[in-house]
Amino acid sequence: MPRSTSAEILGEPLTINKLVLKNRIILGPMAVLQPTKDGRLSEQSIAFLKRRAKGGASMAIVGGSSANDWAWNEAPFFPNVRLDKDEFVPELKRLADELHAEGTAVFGQLFPSFGRMGVPRNGQWPIAASPKGVVMGKVGFPEGVYVPGGRVTPPPKEATVEQIKQFERDVVDAARRVKAAGWDGVEIAAHMCYFYASFLSPLSNQRTDEYGGTAENRARALRDAVAAVRAEVGPDYPVGVRMSVNDHVPGGQDEQGFAEVAAHVVKGGADFIAMTDANYESMGINAPSASGNMLRHGEAKAFREAVGPDVRLFLSSTPNVQEAAGAIEDGLVDASMIARQLLIDPDYPNKVIQGRESEIVWKNPKDNAIFRSLMTNVPIWSKQNPELGHEHPSAVLPTRGQKLFIWAAGNGFLMRIADIFARAGKRMKGQPTGPLH
Ligand SMILES: Cc1cc2nc3c(=O)[nH]c(=O)nc-3n(C[C@H](O)[C@H](O)[C@H](O)COP(=O)(O)O)c2cc1C
Repeated sequence: MPRSTSAEILGEPLTINKLVLKNRIILGPMAVLQPTKDGRLSEQSIAFLKRRAKGGASMAIVGGSSANDWAWNEAPFFPNVRLDKDEFVPELKRLADELHAEGTAVFGQLFPSFGRMGVPRNGQWPIAASPKGVVMGKVGFPEGVYVPGGRVTPPPKEATVEQIKQFERDVVDAARRVKAAGWDGVEIAAHMCYFYASFLSPLSNQRTDEYGGTAENRARALRDAVAAVRAEVGPDYPVGVRMSVNDHVPGGQDEQGFAEVAAHVVKGGADFIAMTDANYESMGINAPSASGNMLRHGEAKAFREAVGPDVRLFLSSTPNVQEAAGAIEDGLVDASMIARQLLIDPDYPNKVIQGRESEIVWKNPKDNAIFRSLMTNVPIWSKQNPELGHEHPSAVLPTRGQKLFIWAAGNGFLMRIADIFARAGKRMKGQPTGPLH
């Protein structure tokens, strides 16, 4: 039998529980949706996602969404989509209808808390597995991303068992709303340095109770959340997690350690794991310039061996078509989840599947201006894709001043000067500093 082409492999349908996706290319979650100030989907949110659906993505994951008031209060990216309001359900349903008309499934990404990345705000102090703040970019930022003076998040308080149980109930309620809105599945956020992620690795979990210590204990909060959601939505509804696969931080947990945790998590009834490499301390690896790191470094293989063939695995950061198709053909992963490349070329999925690879507009791997926009709450735009960020005429566009600011924030020389001043200011206030780049 001749080997299938990459287009054929990525164009093949994928079953997740009872859901059939039309192909293997998924739009990764990105909190760039410009929801309204009170957390409703805006016309722009829907137009942005619909454009990617028209481009052929088989599934769209709605990023960074609040499952409760707690997450809404402390969100580092603001505003985000609220999934904790029953009265929003009819509007959420409209998104499902729009995407289903294009043959694209829609999943909600549920955050009950941003954990170690939570911002102290609204009289609320962040909580996580253990009181460990994040030294952002400890082992480097993505190319073109600088943080003058560095950013070290304040140590969160240790979550009580009652708080863990409350978040579980909140995630269940959000999943119920997402299902009622006709969305096709849910993904519980347990990656980067967010709440559930803080339990998974000994690097951020120093608890001595039933949520700390062994891999089984560190998986417990997330496994219980998955099981509770499963009990709510029933056996046929797709439920998964977005989970870190490697800390890539000295003293952190490697792919074998995360894979062992994953094997416990899926016992809660997860249908899929959307794999995320690294975290905010190793951001340069999380959003790399090169394609296919997770294949080269062995994370995909370790996860497949740990969870078996029935749990669907989504690969990250592998826009290279042959690499992604090869990993699917080899049985390492089941789908390719693509984020930044689909900002630049929303038609990437159709071009790949129709064998029109030569027409793909490739994202400049060194250009991470969009990340700088996200980190400074500036509306996104791109010279490579002039329609990005205003797929709907009502979208808020960046001002000239904001564009200049984002350009300057990516200039190494200017950022080194800004760093000197920021560091001096922080030293005077007794605040901790972190890496610039
Ligand atoms: C602007 C922007 C916003 C993002 N927002 C989210 C988010 O809300 N939830 C999430 O899980 N990941 C988020 N990510 C991370 C992406 O989903 C993805 O993991 C990362 O960009 C690496 O994949 P890529 O190489 O395909 O871009 C965001 C990334 C970018 C660039």
